[in-house]
Amino acid sequence: MSASSAWAWPGRQLQEEGWSSAIPDWLLFGSWWLLVPVIMLLVVAAFIVAFVLLLYMVSPLISPKPLKLNGAHVVVTGGSSGIGKCIAIECYKQGAFITLVARDENKLVQAKKEIEKYAINDKQVVLCISVDVSRDYGQVESVIKQAQEKLGPVDMLVNCAGISVAAKFEEVEVDRFKRLMEVNYLGSVYPTRAVMNTMKERRVGRIVFVSSQAGQVGLFGYTAYSPSKFALRGLAEALQMEVKPYNIYLTVVYPPDTDTPGLAEENKTKPLETKMISETSGICQPEQVAKIVVKDAVQGNFNSSVGPDGYMLSALTCGMSPVTSITEGLQQIVTMGLFRTIALFYLGSFDSIVRRCMMQREQSKSADKSE
Ligand SMILES: NC(=O)c1ccc[n+]([C@@H]2O[C@H](COP(=O)([O-])OP(=O)(O)OC[C@H]3O[C@@H](n4cnc5c(N)ncnc54)[C@H](OP(=O)(O)O)[C@@H]3O)[C@@H](O)[C@H]2O)c1
Repeated sequence: MSASSAWAWPGRQLQEEGWSSAIPDWLLFGSWWLLVPVIMLLVVAAFIVAFVLLLYMVSPLISPKPLKLNGAHVVVTGGSSGIGKCIAIECYKQGAFITLVARDENKLVQAKKEIEKYAINDKQVVLCISVDVSRDYGQVESVIKQAQEKLGPVDMLVNCAGISVAAKFEEVEVDRFKRLMEVNYLGSVYPTRAVMNTMKERRVGRIVFVSSQAGQVGLFGYTAYSPSKFALRGLAEALQMEVKPYNIYLTVVYPPDTDTPGLAEENKTKPLETKMISETSGICQPEQVAKIVVKDAVQGNFNSSVGPDGYMLSALTCGMSPVTSITEGLQQIVTMGLFRTIALFYLGSFDSIVRRCMMQREQSKSADKSE
């Protein structure tokens, strides 16, 4: 016995009443149960949409409370040039007191003059401290203490001092591997260690580590630089877990190529392969990077990226890194597969650049020999 004959399906009645011209026969005669999965799917989809909307609504509640920069003391290492100087300017524009840390005193004085033009009140101060952040922890601790005595406890520390080398692995002088780890990694550990106790006591603070896109993906020419920037991510993840209960939030910044004196220096020795790979994404201005860094640090975002490439790389490499908003977590979940697919195309094109450069070199070598 078929379901259609056994059951008094209301559709029949409708048909008899002449309503059914628009309703397909398979619906009227016994196949109504085919609708059940469709209805269930719609209900599930409605639940998912409602759940996501709810998460979006509660997201601001679990995010850190933004830090007020007006009157705050911000220390910027590497603040005499490039990205660091622009970060200092951005904070100063919002009423912060600034300590600039770098080695060259002349550059520090120049930067101080430039930053002071952006004062929003006459109480603001820019303090300059000349020290090498990578050599001696005792020295770094003592200058941070001096800065705190003059301008009060540090509310935000931006670890931006850094150097880079772009060359083929076997062409990098061996001591550069050590030096890059010292400046880029230890040069961030020491100032962070020096401000930590006070931040924990006050239960407030922001710490920024300026890594690089080369700290998210290893690229040709960066065998010395990339590891020193990858290390910052490991430090930040472990430390964030320790200090979150103290209301201290860390931000790791991954700038792309940015038009600074540092990049100009790096370009002098950059291998052709590295240049060609870098050219696949554009060049940013330090002011643009600084705005994003300061906004993310104030909000306590763990990841800070610049531009669409940066957004994709951060979502792709998020791993087990902390999220500071549900929105960010959801975006990572949804975009991961698509971004991995795009990344595979990028990797393929980078490999082909490296292969082409190698073949060109070999051809010109054999041409030289035959002459
Ligand atoms: N520009 C880019 O394309 C780019 C891209 C990604 C990431 N980054 C990163 O962003 C940061 C800033 O780069 P930038 O391009 O703005 O560089 P930059 O223009 O060369 O500025 C570097 C700053 O760091 C200071 N510094 C270097 N070594 C130091 C040390 N041992 N102790 C104390 N201060 C030191 C420099 O001053 P003194 O030399 O006077 O000490 C200067 O103030 C770096 O960490 C870099 O790796 C840059």
